[in-house]
Amino acid sequence: MALSVSDPHPDFRQALGALRTRVDTRLGELLPSPTHPQDSIAAAMREGALAPGKRIRPLLLLLALQDLDQLDEGAFDVACALEMIHAASLFLDDMPCMDDASLRRGRPTIHVQFGEDVAILAAVALLSHAFSVAACAPGVAHPVRTRMVCLLSQAIGPQGLVRGQYADLREGRQQRSLDAIASANQLKTGSLFTAAVEIAALLGRCDALQRKLLFGFAVELGHAFQLLDDLDDSLGSHQTGKDSGKDEGKSTVVSLLGADHTRQRLKEHLHRAEGQLARLGLAGGWLHQLLECLFARAR
Ligand code: IPE
Ligand code: IPE
Ligand code: MG
Ligand code: MG
Ligand code: MG
Repeated sequence: MALSVSDPHPDFRQALGALRTRVDTRLGELLPSPTHPQDSIAAAMREGALAPGKRIRPLLLLLALQDLDQLDEGAFDVACALEMIHAASLFLDDMPCMDDASLRRGRPTIHVQFGEDVAILAAVALLSHAFSVAACAPGVAHPVRTRMVCLLSQAIGPQGLVRGQYADLREGRQQRSLDAIASANQLKTGSLFTAAVEIAALLGRCDALQRKLLFGFAVELGHAFQLLDDLDDSLGSHQTGKDSGKDEGKSTVVSLLGADHTRQRLKEHLHRAEGQLARLGLAGGWLHQLLECLFARAR
């Protein structure tokens, strides 16, 4: 059943909360439960994926579909697949060989809780489970499923998130140009954002122009999101649920330009993201309100 955008939602945050609860409930159903007390892989998958995060990637997909008046049940499973992929990327990003983080979402990181062996295996298990969930999403036509699985695979793979993480870790240790940093940010963070809206465009039967504009919106959002995250990291912001300073010594936009110029660039990305939404006829819509909520403090 389509959820109508014309339903009166007096409080967008409340509507967002309701969507997030549905995602979490479905995630809980889709994730494997430990079959015995020593089943650390299933326990780690559940612990990491269900821990309280913002659920931005699922929300991007769901709110884009809501803006298009095309939201139905099957989309929730795909939204959960996106969150599983994101959670897997966090398990790996926090490992000692990467950012060496000990706190995530207000809890000890997965390798701290379960060991590095379990963290790696649980990340691989989350990735493979995500593909199976997306491929089996109810009510989605077969050619659309195939395309969806391709989009997810490309978002993660050697030309997507993995490449961005590699660039961040290896090239990030040397001086880099702004363009090189932006490209790494787009790959490591933007890839899943663009995949979310591309899947929304696919499920929502968008035309080529709508798809291009949604893609452009997600690219700008991805840049803004990573800049805000880097600002929080460098300023030691509280209430992120993560330990700060983990990207110290890496060349980031903040280390290159300083906090003030980074904030200025962030606003320019937001402005362009809003421009894409306006061209889509979605000014004031759900995605626009998500943007407002996420970046209220950055403005
Ligand atoms: C963290 O993503 C990784 C980045 C891309 C900065 P989120 O900020 O979406 O993390 P959660 O899901 O809310 O924990
Ligand atoms: C990582 O960026 C983005 C991922 C793909 C996981 P960060 O390393 O800045 O993310 P946080 O700050 O640890 O969440
Ligand atoms: Mg990192
Ligand atoms: Mg990190
Ligand atoms: Mg960070």
